[in-house]
Amino acid sequence: DFNSALFPLSASGNGYTALGTPATPHGFELGLSNGASSGGQGSLEKHKSLTCLNGLSLVVGLIIGSGVFSSPASVNSNAGSPGAALVVWAIAGLLAWTGAASYAELGGAIPLNGGAQVYLSKIFGEWAGFLFTWCAVTVLKPGSAAIIAIIFGEYVVRAVIGADSMDASPWINKGVALIGLAFVTAINCTSTKLGTRAADFFMFFKFLGLLAITMTGIIVAATGIAYDKPALSTTWKTTNWFEGTSTSSSQWAVALYAGLWAYDGWDNTNYVVGEMLNPSRDLPRTIHTSLPLVIVAYLLANLAYVFVLPNEVINASNTVAVAFGQTVFGPLGSLLLALTVSASCFGALNATTFTAGRLVYSAGKEGYIPSLFSTIGISRSGQRMRLPRRPHTKRFTSFISDEQGFFYTPIYAMLLNAALTAIYTIIGDFTTLTTFYGVASYLFYFLAVVGLIVLRVTEPELERPYKCWIVTPVVFCCVSLFLVSRAVFATPVQACVVVAFIAAGVPIYWWRVGRRHNGRRGRSEGTGWKFWRRWGRGGG
Ligand code: ARG
Repeated sequence: DFNSALFPLSASGNGYTALGTPATPHGFELGLSNGASSGGQGSLEKHKSLTCLNGLSLVVGLIIGSGVFSSPASVNSNAGSPGAALVVWAIAGLLAWTGAASYAELGGAIPLNGGAQVYLSKIFGEWAGFLFTWCAVTVLKPGSAAIIAIIFGEYVVRAVIGADSMDASPWINKGVALIGLAFVTAINCTSTKLGTRAADFFMFFKFLGLLAITMTGIIVAATGIAYDKPALSTTWKTTNWFEGTSTSSSQWAVALYAGLWAYDGWDNTNYVVGEMLNPSRDLPRTIHTSLPLVIVAYLLANLAYVFVLPNEVINASNTVAVAFGQTVFGPLGSLLLALTVSASCFGALNATTFTAGRLVYSAGKEGYIPSLFSTIGISRSGQRMRLPRRPHTKRFTSFISDEQGFFYTPIYAMLLNAALTAIYTIIGDFTTLTTFYGVASYLFYFLAVVGLIVLRVTEPELERPYKCWIVTPVVFCCVSLFLVSRAVFATPVQACVVVAFIAAGVPIYWWRVGRRHNGRRGRSEGTGWKFWRRWGRGGG
């Protein structure tokens, strides 16, 4: 069969034992290979538990963070008019959707944990996957989590001390951010189910929040309770939807960046495909449900802002949602909205922590970082811990604990990610983080989606449970190439930093992986994507 031709190593039936995987000297998990040979303990992929709903809430949970509540200012002011701003929101959403649809095809074809790590390894060679992992583990995941955590801190402080919070020391914000981070990490170290339940909860909460904003906006505007604005029936006609629309392409690009940040996170479920119960069915479903829902929710929320707030207010405030609450309900409203935004950021932090732990875990499995990070549970042998199931605790524990019990999670990986996030939260500068994140993440999105096209050519017969329309990846590639190259010209210094940082991964690749290929480290460690067929598809 053609799969044995594609994946010669896995075709030997019993996979890695055929390779003579040696027992590890330390006796603890070295990842998939040893996890499997030691009876299957300690491999997340062998205990699949994620449903379609969980996938959905991991994507939506990360996408809806702070962006839709705070980016409207930069979208609006750069696009120049409310109508143009809505167009930007729609374009950014469609672009995110094309990227996500492409990733859905990749995730179906290579159903493993790790996202772009496994796609790039499989398509371009292990070096590409390694360089992505290097960037994602050290900067992209913790850096973007730090951004979310800082915004979380700001909104909590704003809710507690009100408008004066601007004068408060940034250290208070950062302190709150760290507390939130610790909380989220604790949740996700405790149990997989607890993490996904939290994600589910926050997803519903966020949709509800956006729906409430929309309804309020429409009601307020329709009844004309909004003070400096006339009633909807007149606003609708008198709003100069496209007056002042910007003609500068660089302003449009900046508006698009702001919009794209609000939609970013669409690749989140791809990091955990290996743990999905039915990835070939659920991954495309997840993508094609979440993205349209988010796009509609964002457009409606922005429509509500436009109805209620004067254009100047939207342009000037980087906390549009709070201004919205203030305008409609007074101080109580701004408190309510500040709380909503902080809860939304908390949910995003939870969704990114869940998957970042899995990414670090796959990196450990591949031998890119010490194998400790691919250990499941606290004990190195991957032991589980169960809470006593007394009758009265039983219902509770089974609600949040899966079959594997508590702490059957990549705890060390989570802790590494939390430590890095904490460092970025403390020392990170917001603008530097967002610029670095934007350039580097779109570079890798671009490479992975180019890889999809390459894979169609080189391996046309590879089993693809979901195949997207070929125009989709092409559009995504063109636009992301434009965005990355524009950023290179606009901010050459930062772009050089990104390139230098990626290049710094090359010697580390030689240290961690190159020697292995020379036979010094044995071949037992880097196995995940080569053995995807066996473990990726439910042992099929
Ligand atoms: N879209 C999110 C927001 O509006 C940010 C997502 C950050 N991306 C990520 N991969 N962590 O806040």
